[in-house]
Amino acid sequence: MPKLKLPTPPKTLNPRPKRPGQGNGKVSALDVAEEAATTAVDWVDERTSLSGAARWAMFRKIPKGTNWFYTLGSATLFAFLNQAVTGVFLAMYYDPSPTHAYESIRYVTNEAFLGEFVRGMHKWGSTVMVVLIFLHMARTFFFGAYKYPRELNWVIGVALLILTMAMSFTGYLLPFDQRSYWATIVGVNINGTGPLVGPYLNDFLRAGPEFGATTLSRFYAIHMLLIPGAIIALIGAHLYLVAKLGTTAPPWLKAAPDERLHEERA
Ligand code: HEM
Repeated sequence: MPKLKLPTPPKTLNPRPKRPGQGNGKVSALDVAEEAATTAVDWVDERTSLSGAARWAMFRKIPKGTNWFYTLGSATLFAFLNQAVTGVFLAMYYDPSPTHAYESIRYVTNEAFLGEFVRGMHKWGSTVMVVLIFLHMARTFFFGAYKYPRELNWVIGVALLILTMAMSFTGYLLPFDQRSYWATIVGVNINGTGPLVGPYLNDFLRAGPEFGATTLSRFYAIHMLLIPGAIIALIGAHLYLVAKLGTTAPPWLKAAPDERLHEERA
């Protein structure tokens, strides 16, 4: 009986080209690690096709003259991530009740392992984020990056700025000491003077007719769930638009003359 021809093996089974120095019969730990990582990434990609999206988002041309000022957006993002990570650890100890809030913060600061460090990172990080978001906004303003076709990204940025301010405001009450208590009463009353929505906003923030126990848990829920959720969604939209539209060239750069136009005129 004639022998059947063996099917051609799939391309993925072909041996990979050798690197210089490879092929002496020995398989180094590095080769094994590299192979394992490639296999894992391929396994995920085969099932999700995510590599296309990753290439779309990360490998793109950037304009000539891009400089350090363009890192301010990523720096703001990094500051936000710092707030998110340190906030999770603070939430493990924090108790949003008027009788226990101050004590839980005192415990974090004086007794919990690395508590003072984590609280310091969160507290100073909030100021750093506010400074960076203003610098980033100034960069996009002075470079004219708010103009067509990036107006929507500017509007999303404005929402992010307001939400970042709201994060600072709601976070300030949480230690529930004399300063945060009275400063927040002043802040809430200022909100109440706003036209039309002012009084409603005031009631919503106080969570009742008087400043009391429900106010603290309302501020905590807004601070650690409501606003961060909105910020994450808006940062997603913001970065999608940055990847889609690309970044603006610095305003002092002149567009290179199009050679084809000169050819046509000649
Ligand atoms: C949580 C806050 C924010 C984060 C994490 C963030 C992040 C970023 C990043 C990473 C970029 C691309 C790199 C760069 O240009 O720096 C960018 C671009 C941009 N951002 Fe933001 N941003 C935030 C807030 C804002 C604010 C407050 C505004 C303005 C009101 C704004 C307006 C813009 C605009 C217009 C661009 C496009 C820049 C260009 O095309 O050159 N962003 N943002």
